[in-house]
Amino acid sequence: MAKRKQRRGTTGSEAHYEDGRYYDQAYRRRRHDVRFYTNLATESGGPVLELGAGTGRVALAIAKAGIDIVAVEPMAPMLDQARQRLGRLPRAAQDRIELRAGSLERLRLRRKFPLVIAPFNVWMHLYTRQEIERGFTTVRHHLEPGGRFAFDVLLPDPVSLARDPSKQYRGGEVPHPRDGVRYRYSEYFSYDPVAQIETIMMDFEHPKKKDQSFCTPLTQRQLFPAELEALLHYNGFVVESHTGDFDGKPITTATESQVIIARARRATP
Ligand SMILES: C[S@@+](CC[C@H](N)C(=O)[O-])C[C@H]1O[C@@H](n2cnc3c(N)ncnc32)[C@H](O)[C@@H]1O
Repeated sequence: MAKRKQRRGTTGSEAHYEDGRYYDQAYRRRRHDVRFYTNLATESGGPVLELGAGTGRVALAIAKAGIDIVAVEPMAPMLDQARQRLGRLPRAAQDRIELRAGSLERLRLRRKFPLVIAPFNVWMHLYTRQEIERGFTTVRHHLEPGGRFAFDVLLPDPVSLARDPSKQYRGGEVPHPRDGVRYRYSEYFSYDPVAQIETIMMDFEHPKKKDQSFCTPLTQRQLFPAELEALLHYNGFVVESHTGDFDGKPITTATESQVIIARARRATP
């Protein structure tokens, strides 16, 4: 891979989430999960707690459906974008959302919720067992007795994880909302099989000015299905369903996202 300016460090998710407008552009067609979480929210009657709310992609839809939601997000650029989007909603929907800055790991609100959600790979940004377990403690702390925790993470794909790290996967041209330039986009993948962390290097090559080219790393903890169920079990959860791709179907090797609904085995103080 050509040497590129890296936007922040080489691990973690910060670089990928430092431009909320780019995030919304990149994932504008992702709608099936929004419907899934909005239905769960409506079923619960609310209020809902969303951990890792990003630009409000899911939270705004839930508020528009008439359900109160507290949306927590640590990255300021993502929250700024969420605030801008929120400003464009009808007043009644705006009043249903509380946006809060912060990490899910140490979040302690003095409230309980019938539904806690963490949509779209949030749990893949908890890299160690300790971080994952702190996340589960946060969820249990905020669940009402009998309440549900719903989240999704990618299903690890052994073939993809074995990709050659030096191989370039071209993705066509991508207009960047920051400067309107159409960058030549490509990706490189590498995988640490011990830490179970995949690093995706997203390479943006400027068509004319090489010094304006840059690359953003995105690291994701891979959570294998049986490992995830064991972690949930040993952290006080009962798995209600563990299915594929938001339509309730069993997980197969063709599944992209594993979708979990769990309940706390016992209440926490
Ligand atoms: C792929 S985005 C999903 C955002 C949103 N849930 C959605 O569905 O569009 C993952 C989000 O997790 C957030 N995140 C990463 N680590 C986190 C942590 N420790 N606590 C809370 N959110 C975190 C990121 O900042 C990012 O906004």
